This record gives sequence, C-alpha cells and structure tokens, in this order.
Amino acid sequence: MNTTTWIQHFSENAHRSDALQLPDTPCTLPEHIRHPLARSIAIFQLGESGGGTRIRRYVQGMAPAQHFRGYQRAVDLFIAEEQGHAALLAKVVTHLRGTVLKKQWSNSIFRWMRNLVNVEFNIQVLLTAELIAEVYYGTLLLRTPDETVRTMARKIVRDEVKHLSFQRAFLSERLAEFSPRMQQAWSWQFRIIHWLTTQVVAWDHADCLRAIGVAPGQWRQRCKAALADFERRLWRQTARVQAEGFLMPQEEKSSPLIPA
Ligand SMILES: [Fe+2]
Ligand SMILES: [Fe+2]
Repeated sequence: MNTTTWIQHFSENAHRSDALQLPDTPCTLPEHIRHPLARSIAIFQLGESGGGTRIRRYVQGMAPAQHFRGYQRAVDLFIAEEQGHAALLAKVVTHLRGTVLKKQWSNSIFRWMRNLVNVEFNIQVLLTAELIAEVYYGTLLLRTPDETVRTMARKIVRDEVKHLSFQRAFLSERLAEFSPRMQQAWSWQFRIIHWLTTQVVAWDHADCLRAIGVAPGQWRQRCKAALADFERRLWRQTARVQAEGFLMPQEEKSSPLIPA
C-alpha cells in the first residue's frame, strides 16, 4: 500500500479544510425542510464524532507488516479529517437552529453493530457508513436550497470519495490474501452489513429525504448503486494486487474479517 501518497493527501487536505469558510448568511429554509434537515445532519454529526480509539488499536497491530508501513500515520490523519467533519457539521446544525446530539437510537444501533465481532468487522461497518455518507452528502449537495449546507456537503463529499479510495487500497491488500471462496464469503457478509445500515438510515432519515424531494426507496437505490461501483473497483484492485504482489490465494486460509 502506498501510504506516502495518502499521508501527503491527508496533510494537504488538512490545509484546505482549515481554509474553508461557511457563508455568513442566516438560514431561510422553510420550516418543513429546516427542522428534519437539522435533525438528520445532527445524527450524521454524532456518527462522525468518534475518537477512533478502536481503529488506532487495530492499526497498531498491522504496523509491523512491510506493506502497511506508514499506515498508522495515514490513519491518524484520516481520523483527524473525520473529526473535522464533525466540527463542520456541528456549525451547520447551529446554522439550522438545531441541537447537537449526545446520543441517538440509530447511532447507538450502529455502534452496537460495530462492536459485535471484532475490530476488523468494526472497520467494515465503518466502511459501509462511508459508502452511505457519500450518497447522503451528495444528495444534500444536489437537493438542499441553502448555501451553508451545500458548502459543507461539497467539502465532505469530496473528502468521502477519497476516504473510499483509501479504504479500498487497504482492503484490496487484505482481500488479496484470501482464497476465492473466502473472498466470496466476505463479499456476501459485506453486502448484508451494507443492506442493514442502508435500511436503518433510510428509515430514520425518511422525513428529511422526503423534505428535499427524495423518496427513501430512490435513496436506497442510490446506495445500492454506490455499493456496486465500490465493489467493482475493489475487486479490480484486489486482482491487481494479486498479480503485482504475487500473492497467491490460499484455499484454507481463514480470516478475522469473516464473523465466526
Ligand atoms: Fe466523514
Ligand atoms: Fe469518511
């Protein structure tokens, strides 16, 4: 994994994030949009505000591997960027005259799901959240008639696209070590986690989606398409790692990625 490129990307992007200015205009959205939108963004704000303790612990275990050299530094910068998102979202919640949340049911389910199996499973649940976040902020950017919300969404969607590439680079190295049978099993359990997360988010954010003119079913379709695109790129990259790294799949190799 080319961690140098990622360290450089996250470092440069941190400067761009610091320079970002939200428009200084009051919210004029009608009440039927403002209220559900403020609540929806507050839930995403809570989701982005984790400290990254478990990921850091997991990454410490990977650090000695030659092909993950520098990964720890890249992950620290990645977590800092997510915390920057939480800070930006908190400003947008205030702009929308909403309340920043400390606890919320769908976020609690999400955290519970993440800790069900092990840290590697936790990272997969986080990855499904990144896939959904890309669709969510993309939808806000296209459909919200408020320049502050759109400025935030434009910034975060750009960052999330890069997060997906970063996660894919890591995952392709891991999956390249799996047998075809284990790769298939991984793919199915990943789809199930993604499906579950999509259902919970679509249900919990239905009023906000409807308020900005997106039917929850339509939004679920967008999430499904984003997953298909991610998977297509992931398997192409995995095949390349196997070809270039001469990593032969091992038939009986087990994986901590697959729940027991
Ligand atoms: Fe984020
Ligand atoms: Fe992200």
